[in-house]
Amino acid sequence: MEKMENCTIVIFGATGDLTRRKLIPALFDLFQNKLLPQNVAMLGIGLTAHSDNSFRDKMNENIVTGLKNPATKKKDIEEFLKHLHYLSMDNTNRAAYPLLKERLAQLDQEIQANGNTIYYLATFPNHFEIITRYLGQQGMQKQGKGFGWKRIVFEKPFGYDLLSAQTLNHRVQQIFHEEFIYRIDHYLGKETVQNILAFRFANGIFEPLWNRNYIHHVELTAAEDIGVENRGRYYDHAGALRDMIQNHLLQLLAIIAMEPPAKFEATTIRNEKLKVFQSLCPILPENVATHVVRGQYLSATIRGEKVNGYRQENNVAVESKIETFVAMKFGIDNWRWGGVPFYIRTGKRLPTRVTEIAIHFKRTPHYLFTRELMADIPANQLILRIQPDEGILLKFGMKLPGTGFKIKTVNMDFHYSDLGDHIDLPDAYQRLLLDCILGDPTLYARGDAVEACWTFLMPVLESWQNNPEIKLYGYPAGTWGPPEAKSLFMEPGEDWRYPCKNLVQDGEYCEL
Ligand code: BG6
Repeated sequence: MEKMENCTIVIFGATGDLTRRKLIPALFDLFQNKLLPQNVAMLGIGLTAHSDNSFRDKMNENIVTGLKNPATKKKDIEEFLKHLHYLSMDNTNRAAYPLLKERLAQLDQEIQANGNTIYYLATFPNHFEIITRYLGQQGMQKQGKGFGWKRIVFEKPFGYDLLSAQTLNHRVQQIFHEEFIYRIDHYLGKETVQNILAFRFANGIFEPLWNRNYIHHVELTAAEDIGVENRGRYYDHAGALRDMIQNHLLQLLAIIAMEPPAKFEATTIRNEKLKVFQSLCPILPENVATHVVRGQYLSATIRGEKVNGYRQENNVAVESKIETFVAMKFGIDNWRWGGVPFYIRTGKRLPTRVTEIAIHFKRTPHYLFTRELMADIPANQLILRIQPDEGILLKFGMKLPGTGFKIKTVNMDFHYSDLGDHIDLPDAYQRLLLDCILGDPTLYARGDAVEACWTFLMPVLESWQNNPEIKLYGYPAGTWGPPEAKSLFMEPGEDWRYPCKNLVQDGEYCEL
């Protein structure tokens, strides 16, 4: 924390959902934990007309409704709100930027920030480039002696496909050097995701097994029980592959699959992650139909309540072909992982909310116990539970007490909740904002990595677009997606892990 310097945080999109739900509560938590610089100003920017005071009132409501700790003092909130300011402007209007520059200079002087500024773009992605350009035209990106530091944070999605991501990278890198560009992937800020690095590289016992010699396959699941809610307008142009796999799940995969970095620092860690993305075996267009299964949820009755199908959601096209479920398999072409299949699955309106990574180890090379006794015994599994009920589970076989040698799978189970009540898992945004203030981009996505992820997914996106005959399966809300997802597995008896049962027994599964 020694490095923490005074600064101004400018939030574009300050009246939006993300600022309300995530950014302001995270900044407040940092403030309460004394993790903000001593002098800090937060300047919200939005189209809605607000004075500083009315903006503070609005944010006060959000903080109060989202309070994690009911013992929070009103006085603390009031103190925090004093750091908030507001400027109403259209961020696509070039003429508004000199005013912003003036307002920033004022605030900077008041808090003696010496020019240190974070620009946080919590806006529509199609405003990213224009805002950056206008900041550049006003010289508001200038760094160094007399100007302090400047950092720019981009929310996801960064790009819509490879070409748009490359273009955006190119344009913003003409104004901000890559080391000052922070691309958010909030999964990287999750405590349990950071812990994968500690789990792998702070323990001697797992790393020797972490390769093709011992691991049979790896499974990643990010399931959500909610539908698209009020985000139909965005989602109906994105779909699950762009919304979850291009960013969150591939980032998780990189942390699972990367080599140990030479040092624990941003460049070495991000270099190793990039190598994973570059080693992903391309899914050839002719394999898309067999290696990737897509689905869309249909209406169903869950616990007596009828829920909409995707096409009945607000702002979704009635004949939408957008996928709300994707399951895919692929390999990583390198020495560590050659021949190990990776299976990834994500979806909305599945039976439960769970994100987990399951490492499936190979069976013993020789069955000492008869097959009959071992038949229903799955091979060892290590499950890293990202959320909820965060923890780590190791499944192994033991002898059932009594006569004979009957083997049963048992669990060695660690839950974060076992650490005690005083352990609170900080929200991902809290960690990521703090890192940005400290100038540490380790947990942010680098430009080359984002492009490598798009490169990997382009054949899938293009095949879907060019070949409408590739099936889109309907699955009833509350189920684990189309049964065809199981067909990705190669060996008889293999299947996904199902952390809980389908909520709908006999819903309709169909081709859309
Ligand atoms: C967002 C996606 O990035 O992540 C959402 O746009 C998704 O569609 C969300 O619901 C999931 O995040 P979390 O932290 O709730 O798993």
